Amino acid sequence: MSDVAGTTARRAYRSAPLTVRVHVAGRWWTCPFGPIADALTGADRVLDVGCGHGLFPLYLGIRHGASEIVGVEIDREKLIVARAAALSAGLASRVSFEEVGPGYTPAEEPPVRPTEGWDGISVVDVLYLMGPERAMRLLRAAAKALAPGGKLVVKEIDTTPAWKHRISAVQEVVATRVLRITQGDHNQQVASSTVVAELTSAGLDVTTVRLDRGRIHPDYLVVGTRP
Ligand SMILES: C[S@@+](CC[C@H](N)C(=O)[O-])C[C@H]1O[C@@H](n2cnc3c(N)ncnc32)[C@H](O)[C@@H]1O
Repeated sequence: MSDVAGTTARRAYRSAPLTVRVHVAGRWWTCPFGPIADALTGADRVLDVGCGHGLFPLYLGIRHGASEIVGVEIDREKLIVARAAALSAGLASRVSFEEVGPGYTPAEEPPVRPTEGWDGISVVDVLYLMGPERAMRLLRAAAKALAPGGKLVVKEIDTTPAWKHRISAVQEVVATRVLRITQGDHNQQVASSTVVAELTSAGLDVTTVRLDRGRIHPDYLVVGTRP
């Protein structure tokens, strides 16, 4: 997918090392950021958990006029790149990045959430690196940290259909264990049904969108809205 905001966001990395530029380009071409950003239309204060090099927060900042977007991440090196890219894109006043520990949950730890809660929280391809217990704890805490009407947007890779899941699983083993470009304790895809069940039991109104039509990765988007 190509759009003007995506092109502008990727240009913000033009001074980054080649490996980073390749990684960012790979994320752009393999992850359907457009529909994820669509789900956060109108959200004024957004938290992105596991922001990586910050591509999604920058893209969101360019596409929507959100006043505050905070990306949190466990990998310090990625945060250095993310901050430089925000400066380069002229977005540093609205898009910021903070380091967190691997057990981070938004309701309990800094960055300090807005008094009313976040209007949007995104978690894009992160849960599978956490292991099921920590991933569900993150979702429960994120649901609590939303403002009324706020949206929790979860994009992951589904466990079905099996052939697409197998291809994605092999690619993730290469990313986490061979190339070591992604940090995380686990590599276990989380089924959309598991995310739906967790967000529903946390009291959110939940919708699911399959994003893998014509794509090799079984991407899904689950959106939970706090009533
Ligand atoms: C596949 S990358 C996705 C990055 C970004 N969300 C994107 O879509 O481009 C997964 C990211 O999650 C981060 N991560 C892994 N475990 C985490 C945790 N427990 N808390 C926060 N971030 C974590 C990794 O360091 C990595 O940058």
